[in-house]
Amino acid sequence: MDYKKMTETRQSCRAFDPVRTPDRAVLTQVLEAARLAPSACNSQPYHFYVAVDGTARAVGAATQSLGMNKFAGDCPAFIVVAEQPYNRSAAVGAKLKDQDYRAADIGLAVSQLVYRAHELGLSTCILGWFDEKTLQALLNTNARVRLIIAIGYARADDALRTKKRKSLEELVTWL
Ligand SMILES: Cc1cc2nc3c(=O)[nH]c(=O)nc-3n(C[C@H](O)[C@H](O)[C@H](O)COP(=O)(O)O)c2cc1C
Repeated sequence: MDYKKMTETRQSCRAFDPVRTPDRAVLTQVLEAARLAPSACNSQPYHFYVAVDGTARAVGAATQSLGMNKFAGDCPAFIVVAEQPYNRSAAVGAKLKDQDYRAADIGLAVSQLVYRAHELGLSTCILGWFDEKTLQALLNTNARVRLIIAIGYARADDALRTKKRKSLEELVTWL
């Protein structure tokens, strides 16, 4: 699949097949795509925790509250992205330029991960709604949890949706 087609057909999955868990080999391939992502000063300020089976159920439960992310109960695997410290040069750059490069770095790594997953026939949903304290206890870390990727195989009835996006006119100013 070419990249244009990938950007047109990747979509957030909220209908996972609960009994089809991605195996370690395929999850390793998607993690390898994240590993190759660019980051400010090559700092790579992230760590990925992979949860399947019992831990996946615990992670899924931690993403559900106030009616949000009910579908996550069916997802057989999750990748939890925890923020790590900058390296020295990224820390200096972020301070001097008053920028949060780590948010950008994590976004880029997650983007590479979800597109590689899509290429491999997996489906994903990036989750920003979760109980961070519960997850930190589960992972035994004090690191900030920034994103979770629900990952698995979509159910057969999960149809391709039309993308709702702002127009290029709204999004772009040509200078
Ligand atoms: C940072 C971030 C957080 C998100 N959090 C959630 C979430 O908690 N639950 C959810 O169902 N979707 C979540 N999404 C998915 C978005 O709703 C989705 O990407 C957007 O509506 C566009 O739809 P598409 O991914 O199907 O193209 C999140 C996406 C991003 C990038």
